Amino acid sequence: MNVYQKLINKEVKLSLIGLGYVGLPIALEFAKKVSVIGFDINEKRVNMMKKGLDPSEELPPEAFDNCDIIFTSNPEDLKAAAFHIVAVPTPIDNHNMPDLSPLLGATRTVGKILKKGDYVVYESTVYPGATEEDCIPILENLSGLKFINDFKVGYSPERINPGDREHTIVTIRKIVSGCDDISLDNIAKTYEMVVKAGVHRSPSMKVAEAAKVIENTQRDVNIALMNELSIIFNRMGINTYDVLEAAGTKWNFLKFYPGLVGGHCIGVDPYYLSYKAKEYRYHTQVINSGRFVNDSMGFYIAKQIVKKLIDKGKKILNAKVLVMGVTFKEDVSDLRNSKVADLISELKSYGVLVEVTDPNAESSEVKKEYGFELVEDISDDYNAVVVAVSHKEYKDMDEAYFKSISAKNGILIDVKGIYRNKIKELSYWSL
Ligand SMILES: NC(=O)c1ccc[n+]([C@@H]2O[C@H](COP(=O)([O-])OP(=O)(O)OC[C@H]3O[C@@H](n4cnc5c(N)ncnc54)[C@H](O)[C@@H]3O)[C@@H](O)[C@H]2O)c1
Repeated sequence: MNVYQKLINKEVKLSLIGLGYVGLPIALEFAKKVSVIGFDINEKRVNMMKKGLDPSEELPPEAFDNCDIIFTSNPEDLKAAAFHIVAVPTPIDNHNMPDLSPLLGATRTVGKILKKGDYVVYESTVYPGATEEDCIPILENLSGLKFINDFKVGYSPERINPGDREHTIVTIRKIVSGCDDISLDNIAKTYEMVVKAGVHRSPSMKVAEAAKVIENTQRDVNIALMNELSIIFNRMGINTYDVLEAAGTKWNFLKFYPGLVGGHCIGVDPYYLSYKAKEYRYHTQVINSGRFVNDSMGFYIAKQIVKKLIDKGKKILNAKVLVMGVTFKEDVSDLRNSKVADLISELKSYGVLVEVTDPNAESSEVKKEYGFELVEDISDDYNAVVVAVSHKEYKDMDEAYFKSISAKNGILIDVKGIYRNKIKELSYWSL
């Protein structure tokens, strides 16, 4: 009997290693069909999940209903599983180099409990070759088992979009890959249990790894082009969103928009690809240019705000500016690698007094991540108001509101262009 049938018959369990934004939703989906062990090294998070709470605040408590799952931080518990899915973070270090330590740490955990016949499937975003070159040797060394003969490995990237309730693990077609025909079939069938949109069988793990990393690289480069266009159009005195609306009437014009690219996917994954390309003696140019442009946008926007303040005859030292939105993107609470923080630190470097507010962020978390707190009381004398993130709470705000919180000759900086054509009296600027 193959591993897929054993999972369905609940003769063996499936384990999820790393229960974050990606791992927990998959674990719970599988737990509606098979027996699951959810493992995470963070005991605090495990204790929350034991109580039916998602520490990442993405899933409602009902998501834990009718699930056959145990949560644990004891690696010994993983021995009861025969199909392991690894979904740990793959960040970059301070020099924008891949930091594989969580991935290799999780691989060591699995290697120590790996048995003959087991499957290990990686979901973390990596460069092409990471599974075969970095992970499998550790699994072999620690288990004393032989890859393919004794255990199988696959790679199946996660393609969910933070804050997106429509595109989920169930509704996004899943790329799956294995190390031979039998493993590909078992991995594909296992994912087909939970992914209603079906699976795409990739010819190799490397292809599947490359497919994921280019999805985000493509987005990064395209957004960088929009950001560069917005810098040019700003100098020309034309609104980028007006231009994109006009150009977008052509059937094959791609719909990308300028903005701050933060978080732990789009702004990170291209570095994995460019790092690996160097090993093949290729120095990425387009990818690096995209990263440079996108990483500079927070500082660029801050400079535009300072220029606008000067235009309006405001003194820069102690000018009061309210920044609305600090999370890395709209409608999420995740603060990691938010480029709004660059904008804020740049404004502060000019001596501007910056106050920050966000309906989705926790002030204590902001303090931990960036060293400042959120303000609770909005005042009525801001020299400029910067809507940095297009949270849904902000979308219906109107000019009367912004006027009510602004000083005389106030400025509205609308990074994402959500109030375009709606602001008549305040001085207005968008990317
Ligand atoms: N967040 C997304 O929307 C998204 C989308 C697609 C792909 N990805 C990729 O998925 C992977 C996971 O990302 P995430 O957002 O879920 O990360 P996350 O930071 O939300 O969660 C990771 C979890 O792994 C745990 N962990 C860390 N090291 C561990 C180890 N050695 N053993 C066991 N648990 C460990 C952490 O405690 C945490 O609970 C990354 O490679 C990411 O690039 C993320």
